[in-house]
Amino acid sequence: MLKTELAKKIEADYYRSLGINPLSGIPQGLTIQEVRFATGYSEVMPFDVDLSTEIGPVKLNLPFLSAAMNSVSGQVMLERCHEAGACGITWRDIEANDQLDRLEKVLNYKACLVPKPETLRPNSQLKEARHIKDRFDFSTIPIVSHDGVLQGILFTGSIAFKGHENEPVKNWMMPFEKLKIEKDSTSFEGVQKRLLNEPLCSLLPVVDSHRCLKGIYFMADFFHVNPSWHNSKPLVGMAVSDNAEDISRVHAGLEIGVGAIVLDSSHGNSKRVIEQAKRIIEITKHKAAVIVGNVADIDGYVRLSEIGVDAVKFGIGPGATCTTSIRTGAGYPMFSLMGEARFARKYMKKNGKPAAFIIADGGISNTGDMSVMLARAHGLMMGEYFVAFSESESFQVEGLQYGPDGKKNWVSYWGMASKKAIKEKLSVRYGLQKRAAEGIEGLVPYRGPMLKNLSEDIELVNGGISHQGAKDLKTLRELCDDTRAFSWFSSFGNNQNTPRLKGNNL
Ligand code: XMP
Repeated sequence: MLKTELAKKIEADYYRSLGINPLSGIPQGLTIQEVRFATGYSEVMPFDVDLSTEIGPVKLNLPFLSAAMNSVSGQVMLERCHEAGACGITWRDIEANDQLDRLEKVLNYKACLVPKPETLRPNSQLKEARHIKDRFDFSTIPIVSHDGVLQGILFTGSIAFKGHENEPVKNWMMPFEKLKIEKDSTSFEGVQKRLLNEPLCSLLPVVDSHRCLKGIYFMADFFHVNPSWHNSKPLVGMAVSDNAEDISRVHAGLEIGVGAIVLDSSHGNSKRVIEQAKRIIEITKHKAAVIVGNVADIDGYVRLSEIGVDAVKFGIGPGATCTTSIRTGAGYPMFSLMGEARFARKYMKKNGKPAAFIIADGGISNTGDMSVMLARAHGLMMGEYFVAFSESESFQVEGLQYGPDGKKNWVSYWGMASKKAIKEKLSVRYGLQKRAAEGIEGLVPYRGPMLKNLSEDIELVNGGISHQGAKDLKTLRELCDDTRAFSWFSSFGNNQNTPRLKGNNL
């Protein structure tokens, strides 16, 4: 295998620290699910834990990135991530104009505003409202005329549809005159004050001077937003490929103010990717974080750090939709891989060498996985976790699906190397060479709106971190380096390098 001398040296030190012969030994490969924290003395309460993190020039209030996948990170997901203090990443195989348009919208986004709710016309029939309710579980449907003027709101939760399916919604809606309305220009704080203080005000439709609908604010969303987060600089990232033509979209992305450029490849430790990373670094000049991946070896980390990338993304094989390990034979169990990553970063820092930040990508699907991985990584990229929310692109486009339990309470999730995604990519990237699938399509249980779930999940992640006695992520990483912090939790019995979804198209 072609390795730099420095990588060989770090690997040898690491293997020796594990008591393994650096040349002939094979280290124990542990997946995320097989490891949990061994708990210890703590003076920290979960609500004291600060999850903020740094990735190169970018600061995040939450150390999460939504996976650059077309089932996950559409417009609404990007906006919600920004609102939550995380960072959404658009996927790469999309027309440049479309990608930039989405990014620009997020950068101009108003926190908590649902800008394009599902609407109906006054003469639409109640059965159409029922269809929207069944498909998306929405209970509030604005009724607008053909020119976009708001006529009223239909609250589907209080309607007995049976026997009335063919009636026009206008007979059942709350008319405009009875609604509390907000002006287009009101500030976030102004809207928040009304929603939280006025009686019977659980939502506020927003209209312009012609009464045209511009979106809706829902009170529930405001409970889960930390105002200091949404006020910070809007943060969103774009994935690009190793194709030289993508450099022009990097220029355009930087011009509109994207916070992260993610050079996305299934084999980040390769000549093409490293050459492209050099080109991107040259034009980015620390205005945005340059994140490059994916790699699953110390050599990849060393090479990418040395050319000056801000963060290296680790993970080959662990994704929920991923069949790379099975189909190609390449991959590395994620927990052990992240041990190597952490060791390499510390080695580079100690020896005065450039040391990129570390992002763990793939296989992190529950809050326990998140706490454990944050002991190794500065940021976590997640697909399976985010796709389960109503903000995911899959839910937005395809709605709820019937699952193996016969209930319509599931969301489709497909890999970027699944047959479904490859078909779409071929229409965007003419001449795409990679056609053999390394991913599957499957289903995940639907969880509902993201902000509500996320705020509960953060409590749990904080709980795990406070069990280590850490009040922030830097302390967590250092404490876990210096003590025996992990336990082997084999009862999960779930080999992460085989797909865990009930998928087809293997
Ligand atoms: P999770 O487990 O969070 O993983 O859903 C998300 C990550 O999985 C990777 N990915 C794939 N890997 N075939 C693969 O081998 C695929 O089709 C595929 N799609 C996504 C990717 O790194 C993503 O962030």
